[in-house]
This record gives sequence, structure tokens and C-alpha cells, in this order.
Amino acid sequence: MKPLIFPKPTEMAHMWLRQIIEPGDRVIDATLGNGHDALFLAQCVGAIGKVIGFDVQELALESATQQMLRHGIPESVYQWHLASHARMGDFVIGSVKAVMFNLGYLPGADHTWITSADETVLALESAAGLISDGGMMTVVCYPGHPGGDQEAEAVKAWALARGADWHVVHYEKWATRQAAPELIAMQKKEARP
Ligand SMILES: C[S@@+](CC[C@H](N)C(=O)[O-])C[C@H]1O[C@@H](n2cnc3c(N)ncnc32)[C@H](O)[C@@H]1O
Repeated sequence: MKPLIFPKPTEMAHMWLRQIIEPGDRVIDATLGNGHDALFLAQCVGAIGKVIGFDVQELALESATQQMLRHGIPESVYQWHLASHARMGDFVIGSVKAVMFNLGYLPGADHTWITSADETVLALESAAGLISDGGMMTVVCYPGHPGGDQEAEAVKAWALARGADWHVVHYEKWATRQAAPELIAMQKKEARP
């Protein structure tokens, strides 16, 4: 069988981010979870870069740390905050190259720790203010999760309203099961001279 050329939204986010993140960059993982995205980001920024991560669950911070240790990522490369991503502006000074959101809940854990439309929109707003020109934000939404449909709609409405300053892309597989995950990716336009 030929390989599938349309990757999952999470993989597509990595493919796009890989093109803009460079060694030494500072980036944010807004939903650490099990640390898969954080590991990807750490591998992109290298030994002199920084991955700043947020999650509201202690378990997620521990899993993400284990992920880093298993892959030999130096401690100096990552910094986690047990805080909502809506508060990222309280912890991050200066600009970042990219912010990743992988919404919903931690697979295999307590599903009550789930992202919510209101907090997510606040976090998107903060992230937009931190990203440098040419930098990128990716948001994977899960409309099939409880409240996920409303959250995905809020993310798309928020992103659509920012077309003047951002290139906005929506990636979603069609004709699959109902409510497949969706990716919204945005690249900040370069400021006009
Ligand atoms: C789908 S998981 C993230 C997967 C993760 N990026 C990975 O690579 O494994 C979603 C995560 O968002 C976290 N979360 C829920 N509400 C949050 C909030 N307000 N701020 C930050 N993280 C939140 C959950 O605890 C959960 O760990």
C-alpha cells in the first residue's frame, strides 16, 4: 500500500513549524500533556534554544520532564510552568518564534482537565502578542471532545478575524468520521517598513 501523504493535524503542525524554527529560538508549548510536542520543539531549538511549557496538571509536567530525560534533552533547554496558558504573558518576557496548542485532554488521564473555549481564546490573544514577525502559532482542536466543538468554533472565529496581520490556514481531513481533529495554523506577517 502506498504511504498516506496527508498527515494527521498534529504531524502537519510539526511539518510546518520545522520550516520556521531555528536552533537557538525560544518557543512555547501551551499544552504540555505527555511532552511529545515539547520534545519536538526541543529538538528544533537545540542545545542553545528554549522551550517554555504550560499545563494545569502536575502529571503533565512530570510526563514532559520524563520525555526530555529519556531523550537526553539538557535541563537548560526547557522550563515548565504549572499554570494556565491564559497566563503565559505573566511568565514570558520578550518574543518567541512559535507557540503550539494541542487542545483537549491528556489521553489516558483525568478528562476533567480539559481546555476550554474561554481560556483558550485568552491564551491565543497572549500568544499572538508574544510571537515575532514571521513566527507561527499552531492550534490542534478536537471538536469530538465534550465542549470541543464550541472551542474549535471559537478558535476559528478568533483566527479568521486576524487575517489582516496573519496568514491563516485551516487543515482538516474530509469524509472521515464525524468531528475529526482540525489544525489552525497562523504565521505572523512581517511588519511593513
Ligand atoms: C491533548 S493534551 C496535550 C498533548 C501534548 N501537547 C503532547 O504532546 O503530549 C492537552 C493538555 O492540555 C492541558 N490543559 C487543559 N487546560 C489547560 C490550560 N488552561 N492551560 C494549559 N494546559 C491546559 C491538559 O491538562 C492536557 O495535558
